[in-house]
Amino acid sequence: MEISLKKRRCSGGMLTYVAAIAKNNVIGKDKALAWHLPNDQKFFRQTTLSGSKTMIMGRRTFESLPRVLPGRKHVILTQKKDYKLDDENVEIVHDIADLMPYVNADEEYFVIGGAEIFKMLFPYTQRMYITEIDEEFEGDTFFPDYDSSEWKVTAKKEGIVDERNKHKHTFWTLERI
Ligand SMILES: NC(=O)c1ccc[n+]([C@@H]2O[C@H](COP(=O)([O-])OP(=O)(O)OC[C@H]3O[C@@H](n4cnc5c(N)ncnc54)[C@H](OP(=O)(O)O)[C@@H]3O)[C@@H](O)[C@H]2O)c1
Repeated sequence: MEISLKKRRCSGGMLTYVAAIAKNNVIGKDKALAWHLPNDQKFFRQTTLSGSKTMIMGRRTFESLPRVLPGRKHVILTQKKDYKLDDENVEIVHDIADLMPYVNADEEYFVIGGAEIFKMLFPYTQRMYITEIDEEFEGDTFFPDYDSSEWKVTAKKEGIVDERNKHKHTFWTLERI
């Protein structure tokens, strides 16, 4: 498919990934996350409520959310032409080309998954916020393989393990080189 998405942007707009990934690349199981980690939920909330406050996601990820998340625009990709949601914070799109305005705009838009969407939009992302969970989990959905030599770490912070956050985890910021 020929679409005029700019693959790289040195400044201005871009797609930023927000993903939580287990040691074995698992991101989901049975249409949900495979772990409970409130620290990461908090990070996700703070991040997606910043900047454009706009999240791009696949239909299956949208349906895994408890509800339309307050304060954020949801851009949902589906092939179902009759998929409708009566909510001013929801935009339904049917083709990757419909995302062009987000890829080429002057703001940062957050791509929040799932696996199909992470794979499809990977060439267009410039930054990734990855919560790495230092454990292997059983799952059925995986973050795509990528060449880490094309990315540099610009921030790294160990998550705090406590009674409510039992899995060792690290928050990484990666920028495409
Ligand atoms: N750990 C994390 O950071 C994280 C983040 C997000 C999600 N997840 C997990 O990942 C799983 C869901 O991921 P998933 O890969 O199954 O699904 P997904 O990527 O969320 O959504 C896939 C759907 O997107 C639509 N789609 C994909 N390509 C399209 C295209 N080219 N044009 C139009 N529509 C397109 C299709 O919807 P239709 O079928 O409606 O056509 C497809 O079924 C869940 O377990 C979720 O909990 C984890």
